[in-house]
Amino acid sequence: MPKLTVEGVGQSEVPQGKRLVLALEQEAGIDQLHACGGHARCTTCRVEFLEGEPDRMTIAERDVLAARGISGVRLSCQIICDHDMTVRAISRLAGSGRKDAGHLPAAGIEPPPEWVTV
Ligand code: FES
Repeated sequence: MPKLTVEGVGQSEVPQGKRLVLALEQEAGIDQLHACGGHARCTTCRVEFLEGEPDRMTIAERDVLAARGISGVRLSCQIICDHDMTVRAISRLAGSGRKDAGHLPAAGIEPPPEWVTV
């Protein structure tokens, strides 16, 4: 099983193929934001990669990051845990002023992923 390390939190094993946004919440146990419910719209599921950044991204992720002029982060709702990764959690419920983290993302990537190499 892939290992997910969250800086300052610890390391957990994640079921192969699990969405990173869900692994952050369920395996790492952090209050990761996902305001749009994992649909590549809000960008609140963003993380910084320290190691193991995937070399592919969904077109939906590419487009929303470009539209908002955001760089240096990845959207955890658009990433599958299929190898070891180390991330910095930079978008959490605590201190956000939001009432909740957002509704639970589905098990599979939404919208249906089309991949491009980065
Ligand atoms: S972009 Fe909204 S949860 Fe990922």
